[in-house]
Amino acid sequence: MNGISASGIDTGLACPPARRPARADAPLHDALARSQSELELRSSELRHSREALRKENGRRIAAEAALAALREQHARDLARASRLNSTGEMAAALAHQLGQPLAATLNYLHGCQLRLQHGDVDAATISEGIGKAIAHAEQAGSIVGHVRSFVAPHVADVQPTDLHALISQTLALLDNECRQHGVRCHLNLDAGAAQVLAEPLEIRQVLLNLMRNAIDAMKSQPVDERQLDIETRRCDSGRRVAITVADSGPGIADADLLRVFERWYTTKRDGLGLGLAVCRALVESHGSALNVSRSTLSGGAAFRFDLSMVNSA
Ligand SMILES: Nc1ncnc2c1ncn2[C@@H]1O[C@H](COP(=O)(O)OP(=O)(O)O)[C@@H](O)[C@H]1O
Ligand SMILES: [Mg+2]
Repeated sequence: MNGISASGIDTGLACPPARRPARADAPLHDALARSQSELELRSSELRHSREALRKENGRRIAAEAALAALREQHARDLARASRLNSTGEMAAALAHQLGQPLAATLNYLHGCQLRLQHGDVDAATISEGIGKAIAHAEQAGSIVGHVRSFVAPHVADVQPTDLHALISQTLALLDNECRQHGVRCHLNLDAGAAQVLAEPLEIRQVLLNLMRNAIDAMKSQPVDERQLDIETRRCDSGRRVAITVADSGPGIADADLLRVFERWYTTKRDGLGLGLAVCRALVESHGSALNVSRSTLSGGAAFRFDLSMVNSA
């Protein structure tokens, strides 16, 4: 092979093979090669980490799904337990609340039967007895409906209702008990406060439970000091009516003012401790609250709640 001069002209002279000159950018190349292999190493490590992460994520998702399933099972168990509990409570409440109206119904019917057997057939008296039996039986019927609502909170199906008529119906139902225990009833009704929005049977049950408790509480007082006060008064600029049922009994100690509303709280030998819990649930279903304080009038307990007036909307 001929040599080629620097000028690029073939000189015809043979030259020894030229040694490749050391490249000036060799260190750069080396560094680049090192970086490249480093990069590959890191990439492969990253791939592994990503893979490990992916697997870990899969495990986490599976664990979360298992936990969610466990939680659901737990919630189902709790719901079942509380349903069983509620069923027991419902049965107890039902038995407790039904006892009195059923006994009263029977009493009135027996009374009528006795009169008839003895030839005492005064139509007005018999009709009055049967009327009272019907009122108590109706009350028993309404209890079956509202005990369910005591266990399951609900919104009351309200309608324009004559509150003062409800109060007199309730007093009529308690007529016998008041007479038997020498309780005097004192009404202080605001004539402009009669028309309210309420579920009549439920509010009648509230009044009945409160008044019956008041009668029970006053049994420990001297007979001539047993007074039941029922008051209605417009409040909230005439939009609502406050109803107070107060008595001249011993009242409730400050420490027990909240406890009396707890289910099963009772200080009576034959009490069940559900009456006020039912009252509170029913009052709350009317968008109100049931409170108790010491009566300024008679020194005993004063229970108070309010209802919307018909024209308040
Ligand atoms: N008017 C009242 N005066 C004094 N204590 C009362 C009155 N009303 C309720 N209580 C107290 O609240 C408790 C719970 O009442 P309640 O829930 O109706 O259940 P029960 O009548 O079966 O005891 C009563 O046992 C009594 O201690
Ligand atoms: Mg009671």
